[in-house]
Amino acid sequence: MAAPRRVLIVGNWKMNGSRQSKQELEAMVKGLNPAFSSVADIMVCPPAILLAELAGGAVSPIRFGGQDCHHNASGAHTGDISAEMLKESGADSVILGHSERRADHGEGDAIVHAKVKAAWRAGLLPIVCVGETLEQRDADEAAAVVARQVRQSIPEGATGENLVVAYEPIWAIGTGRTPTPEDVAQVHASIRHVLNERFGEEGEKIRILYGGSVKPENAKTLLAVANVDGALVGGASLKAEDFLGIAHAAL
Ligand code: 13P
Repeated sequence: MAAPRRVLIVGNWKMNGSRQSKQELEAMVKGLNPAFSSVADIMVCPPAILLAELAGGAVSPIRFGGQDCHHNASGAHTGDISAEMLKESGADSVILGHSERRADHGEGDAIVHAKVKAAWRAGLLPIVCVGETLEQRDADEAAAVVARQVRQSIPEGATGENLVVAYEPIWAIGTGRTPTPEDVAQVHASIRHVLNERFGEEGEKIRILYGGSVKPENAKTLLAVANVDGALVGGASLKAEDFLGIAHAAL
């Protein structure tokens, strides 16, 4: 039997937060069940400009990640941030290929692929996001679209230690709508199939998170679905009470 995958709960703050968010983060640290760290990981991905301040505090059970990085280590790329810079600011992970990056910045699978390599170069854990539009879901293409994104966004050499995948149906992000557990199971199985096919035994160890309107009320149900190894949480990760409600659903 394959080794169990350690649950990972990630908060993606998107373009929210300020220096005052330190208080919310402290409330998360304070409220986290002490048993949590023995069974699961918890991570916050704030805007990059807050990383150094939030991650620089006392030793905390919370890990930190960035929300994107450039594929180069440095150079003439105005407004961009490299994986190495995120690492230096206290991140150990980075979200890549989020649907908002794909939509707002025209990022396709090829650039996400290059960014995953950049994350590895800097020693960061990439969390690669994939997900279908509503039109694709209605056309029964969800599993195929997502499988293609997984094939094209992830380079050779992925392992259970150096990669996380996040399935985020675009129509479920910020809408309060979620797929049924059966639909989530189907897409996660299809992702697992591609990972196993490409990476053999390591494919079985790669964590696959679900994201899209995860709330304290639905977290337990979603986390119980086969091949759901954690959650990528947007809106509900901004408030300690909600984020902890989701995290504690993993216990
Ligand atoms: P919501 O949890 O706000 O739907 O956002 C999901 C998401 O995009 C996380 O990356």
